[in-house]
Amino acid sequence: MRAWFRNRYLDILGSIYIYNEHRGYTAIDDLLDAVRIRWPDDHGLIATIDKHRADERKHYQMFRRWFERRGVMPYALDSAFGHIDRFVGIMFGSSIDSLDKTRVVMSDTLFARLCRVISLTEKRGHRQVEILLRHPLVMADARLMKIFRVIERDEPSHWAPYDDWLRAHGGREARWWERAIDSFIHGELLFLKLPVLFLNPRLGRRTAWPDAPDVARPIACTPALASA
Ligand SMILES: [Fe+2]
Ligand SMILES: [Fe+2]
Repeated sequence: MRAWFRNRYLDILGSIYIYNEHRGYTAIDDLLDAVRIRWPDDHGLIATIDKHRADERKHYQMFRRWFERRGVMPYALDSAFGHIDRFVGIMFGSSIDSLDKTRVVMSDTLFARLCRVISLTEKRGHRQVEILLRHPLVMADARLMKIFRVIERDEPSHWAPYDDWLRAHGGREARWWERAIDSFIHGELLFLKLPVLFLNPRLGRRTAWPDAPDVARPIACTPALASA
């Protein structure tokens, strides 16, 4: 029973992470295209967002290898379990896929809003990883601990480009109500959706990896990715 509980908990945790890592780097693809169009000469901004994208894909691959070693597929979770999906949905009234990234990037107001959403999401992710690194079930899994340590190390460079842009362009910092939405999304996932998931006997597993449809897509070879 204890082994079942532990495996179920870790499989659900890994499934939420692999969904969010995949969501992260695929969403940045479109964002990066739009940033390159608006600021083609801002090599610093492009390089830091590109590094963010490469890190998220590296995280995704680490979780995929972790599942492969366990010999199971992740649970089939959708955008309801994506922190950034919920945040973008609330702040822009649109799913990430339907969001017109070019329109957002071309507008200082909308891009600033998106920068705050990404920055809050990354900072939330960093705090969550610090909690998980002290969680007994996670601590008992050496490979998972290694993955979370890499994420903990990478995360601060993920919010930096967006905070830097806001500072350089006179954008305001996140207000209390934006932080409250971030907390609400996190609480909803942790205290409502996760327990329901855990107790759902019909929860099925994926039959294909999240990146199966885009494996043919060329991946930018950045140093971070090359060394992953
Ligand atoms: Fe990540
Ligand atoms: Fe991240």
